[in-house]
Amino acid sequence: MRKKLIAGNWKMNNDLNSSIELAKSISTGIKKDFLNNTDILICPTFISISKVFDSVKGSGVSVGAQNMHFKDDGAFTGEISAEMLISAGCEYVILGHSERRQLFHETNHLINLKLKKALKSGLIPILCVGETLEQREEGIHEKIVDEQITFCLKEISKVEISKVVIAYEPVWAIGTGKTASPEQANQMHNNIRNSIANLYGNDFAQNIRILYGGSVNDKNASELFSQPDIDGGLIGGASLKPNQFLTIIENASK
Ligand code: 13P
Repeated sequence: MRKKLIAGNWKMNNDLNSSIELAKSISTGIKKDFLNNTDILICPTFISISKVFDSVKGSGVSVGAQNMHFKDDGAFTGEISAEMLISAGCEYVILGHSERRQLFHETNHLINLKLKKALKSGLIPILCVGETLEQREEGIHEKIVDEQITFCLKEISKVEISKVVIAYEPVWAIGTGKTASPEQANQMHNNIRNSIANLYGNDFAQNIRILYGGSVNDKNASELFSQPDIDGGLIGGASLKPNQFLTIIENASK
């Protein structure tokens, strides 16, 4: 059985002190039984990772980053490497978020390089995929997501794929309050699982975790997570509010 994962993507929010405060409110609010069938992750900005890691130690909450470079080190001003993230306490890294794709022109090729590097270094990558509103209206959303999966996972081995987490985040649902319906989301998750089955076989497809992201909140979480192919969530806005985030986690752990 796939263990659920609830991941908070804090994006470019919270300075160092408020990040520590938020992390503490979350970690102290977690009940033991939440952790039995749910992994919990928070992804602060780079500058807060190390202190946030210290402040949640022993609580069962993992820490991740929102991005990284694919090279080991060198002259890449403003970038950060997988090893640096690991040394600060990261277990996970979000890759290919639609904001990175749209605002920072990340391509499937670049994301593939990052994914390979993350896996080689021992980080668990959360690969984000998802279509725009125009693509959905054109009826090409399934093709777009399948392409993202296929290109981003190029040359990723069977051993490696078992460590990858996928997050389906329809761009039109991010930060808009317009969530995909549970059926719409589950349909796409099912397609993604089929794409993985085509690439790696059904056993691997059944084991891979596929998260939904896009306006998940404490009200809609329960219905989304009860869908058979939804294995948790990548949460933006609601992960900045401890009570909402804890309710979302509680819903996932039921
Ligand atoms: P919201 O939950 O704010 O819509 O953001 C989703 C997201 O982009 C998480 O990565």
